[in-house]
Amino acid sequence: MTQMPMPATEPELPLRYPFEPGPWGTPPLVVHWARRNHPVCPVVLPSGTQAWMLTRKDDIAKVFADRRFSRALAFDGAPRMAGDDFTSVPGSVFNIDPPDHTRVRQVIAPYYTRTGVQRHRPMIEDHAKTLLDKMASGLNPADLVETYADPLPPLVTCDSLKIPTKLRAKFMKNFKVQTNLAVTPEKVAAATKQITAFTGEVVAARREDGDRDDPIGALITAHEQKMISEDEVHGTASYLCVTGVEALVSPLLTGPLTLLRHPKQLRECMKEPELWPKAVEELLRYHHNGVLGLPRIALEDVELHGTLIRNGDAVCATMLGATWDEAHYPNPAKFDIHRTTDGTATFGAGPHFCIGAAFARLFLQIACQALFTRFPTLRLALAESRIPWREDLIFIRPSSLPVTW
Ligand code: HEM
Repeated sequence: MTQMPMPATEPELPLRYPFEPGPWGTPPLVVHWARRNHPVCPVVLPSGTQAWMLTRKDDIAKVFADRRFSRALAFDGAPRMAGDDFTSVPGSVFNIDPPDHTRVRQVIAPYYTRTGVQRHRPMIEDHAKTLLDKMASGLNPADLVETYADPLPPLVTCDSLKIPTKLRAKFMKNFKVQTNLAVTPEKVAAATKQITAFTGEVVAARREDGDRDDPIGALITAHEQKMISEDEVHGTASYLCVTGVEALVSPLLTGPLTLLRHPKQLRECMKEPELWPKAVEELLRYHHNGVLGLPRIALEDVELHGTLIRNGDAVCATMLGATWDEAHYPNPAKFDIHRTTDGTATFGAGPHFCIGAAFARLFLQIACQALFTRFPTLRLALAESRIPWREDLIFIRPSSLPVTW
């Protein structure tokens, strides 16, 4: 049994987020400490707001399903991570509570079922192949961030949402700011405004093209049928654009890196390709990549583990806390693709459970398998200890990942 790593000295409360990540982008040691000693732990967010941090899998599942905790934070002065990010956009499926949430979510849900996402398999394979061919004919060593992990998710997201070709160049510009923890509130708010304007252009163009068989098309149809409001079309379309970028860039870096660090398990996947879904599941358990999720607020006083969470208090959860919870995952620090437990807790719980979970799994299975099949001799081009990390993002990841073959 590997010992769960703990901080060398007792952390001071309240904790201050962002935390220093554990080795190789694994959970910050302070998360393990809080799970053991302070299951409802005070933490100050980059915005200066104080929140309660949950780290145990059972607590997160319970609170996320509890209607006394609200996601409806699109009001001025609501608790924020760094500034007025996508949690401030009215009408987004992410920012509304049931029953409105259920009404909006059901419009796009059919496109994200396990069978629904399979229609994207050939498209993801094609984009992966094109990028990998380009990488093969370019410089060796190459940076996996530039050649593969950064460009693939936006290509795939634009296709799956049928973003008009003329608007694709604008697509990436402001999304990175949204998930950065080290930018000023003014910058975050400006980026949110630009994304909202961008989504407005997308929805206007999509209204004209008449094609309705995709999530944005379905939102437009639902609005025509008076099922959802104009804000709900725009807010939800904009959130789908946001989630389809950085949330997939990070695991496409931490995933291959972790496999390169566990060559025996990588060889097993290469020999038995049916192991790829299990490998991706374990990668998703091992690296959520986002350390602390976005806030909810308590709508009344709630006591948890003897701590009083007051009406109006912010509560955040760390899914990495859940997927490394020893009560559910024996020996969580061990990367083991043969685990029988899955990584579902990485996608949250309750009504806001990640709608893109099947899409993310499919994307990562295809992208990881394609990478190692195209470059069977792939290895790191610098010492592991010299890999630079970006710790200022919600989705921590290497800032560059030089590889050779
Ligand atoms: C590995 C990649 C991903 C991870 C780990 C992840 C994780 C999560 C988590 C933890 C939540 C719940 C947040 C909360 O309740 O506070 C969530 C919500 C959501 N995710 Fe993902 N996500 C990923 C990729 C995606 C992708 C690719 C999409 C695009 C389709 C997506 C779309 C969404 C949406 C729309 C919600 C909000 C659902 C709702 O409010 O009902 N996610 N995600």
